Parts: sequence; C-alpha cells; structure tokens
Amino acid sequence: MVVESERDMTGLVRVGKVVGLALQHMRASLRPGVTTGELDAIGAEFLRKEGARSAPIVTYKFPGTTCISINDEAAHGIPGSRVVEVGDLVNIDVSAELDGYYADTGASFPMLPVTNVKQKLLDVAQQALEKGIGAARAGRPVNEIGRAMEGVVRGAGFRIIRDLPGHGVGRKLHEPPSVPGFYNPRLKDVLKEGMVLTIEPFVSTRASRIVTERDGWTLKTPDGSPAAQFEHTVIITKGAPILITKV
Ligand code: CO
Ligand code: CO
Repeated sequence: MVVESERDMTGLVRVGKVVGLALQHMRASLRPGVTTGELDAIGAEFLRKEGARSAPIVTYKFPGTTCISINDEAAHGIPGSRVVEVGDLVNIDVSAELDGYYADTGASFPMLPVTNVKQKLLDVAQQALEKGIGAARAGRPVNEIGRAMEGVVRGAGFRIIRDLPGHGVGRKLHEPPSVPGFYNPRLKDVLKEGMVLTIEPFVSTRASRIVTERDGWTLKTPDGSPAAQFEHTVIITKGAPILITKV
C-alpha cells in the first residue's frame, strides 16, 4: 500500500511495533531445549493480548501463528514438537494484522556455539538487509534494493535465494511490488514516497532456490545448506526509510 493519511501512518506504526515486540518476546525464550511450538505459543499470546491476528493464519490458513524455520529450512517452518538444539540457526518470522493494517518482520538467531560459516551467514544476511534499506529511497528503481543486497552476498561467497522476494504489504500480507533480493531486469517498478514494503534478504551458503517439504509448507534448500533471513517492514521516503518493525 501507499500511505495516504495520518490514520494510515498511525495504523502501520502500531502494527509494526506489535510484530516487532512479538519477535522480541519469542527471542527472549529462544534457547536449546525449547520446542518451536512453545515459542509460537508465546508469540500467539502476545498478539492476542494486543488485539492482533496472525497474518499467515488470516491469509493462508497456515498451521501456526508464526513461522519458525531451522538450519536448511529457509521459510514457512511449522511450529510444533521440534526441539531447538545447540548449533542451530533459528529463523522466526512474525506477521500480523491489527485494525486492517499488516506488518511483517523476521530474524535468524544462532544457538551458540554455531559453526563459523553459520555465524558468517548471519553477519552477511544482516549486512545485506542494511544495504537494502540504504538503497531504498523514493524515486529509485525497486531493483536497486536487490542489487545492493546481492552485491554484499556475492562478495562474501554466498547466494541470495532468488525465489523468496520481499513484497509490498500494508492492507494485505502480500501486495505488489515484488522486492527481489537481486537485480531483475524485467521489473520496472519505481519506489514512491509512502510505499510500504518488506526488505528481506534470504541468504544461503550455496543454494539459490528452495523446494517445498512434504508437509506442503516448509521451504528448504535443496542441498541442505543453511539459510538466514532478516526482515523489516519499511515506509519509503525521500530520505532514509522508516523502519516500522524495528523496536
Ligand atoms: Co516475514
Ligand atoms: Co515478508
């Protein structure tokens, strides 16, 4: 969506803060031994208290309030009985609707100690997000975001997972435009002031695409290589974007 009123801005800032805080609450309980189902319940309780609804449930009937994806799972992992272990990379992705507005955020966390390559993957994915945010400015092509992110990732010897783009958001969970993590010459969209979108590089050590697990939801790398993702919902301005999910 494009922000058109003070009401839009207030609604987006509110839902952005709620999903950002939900992620922080879950993170506070994230440790080896916890199950992904227990983490999800913490996120669900927080959203319920705030009057927000899980966007994956509302939109896709996803079998969980949040998505929790471990190691070679890149996205849409279903919370359940899986126990988090030392050495895991755990991605938590929270998106919700509040008063008709949607926001979406995610981050990957290391269950220390992790291998050096996993730590580097996290650092590079985080840097890619920062570079992507730095490239997001009204008047520039949407493609500049992906170009900046892929530059960081390739420079480190890693890959962007190309079939998991960022997206417009605001009135629905997924809206146009697509915000790929790489330069896509077919896309001609230009960033406009007030545009609401997610910037979310998915980075892997080797994989540049994903496959769907037998459960019909979980998206994994085909070769077992680990993946990391960091995501913020941003509002485009003439200067630095407003990060509504950063708390
Ligand atoms: Co997300
Ligand atoms: Co997203």
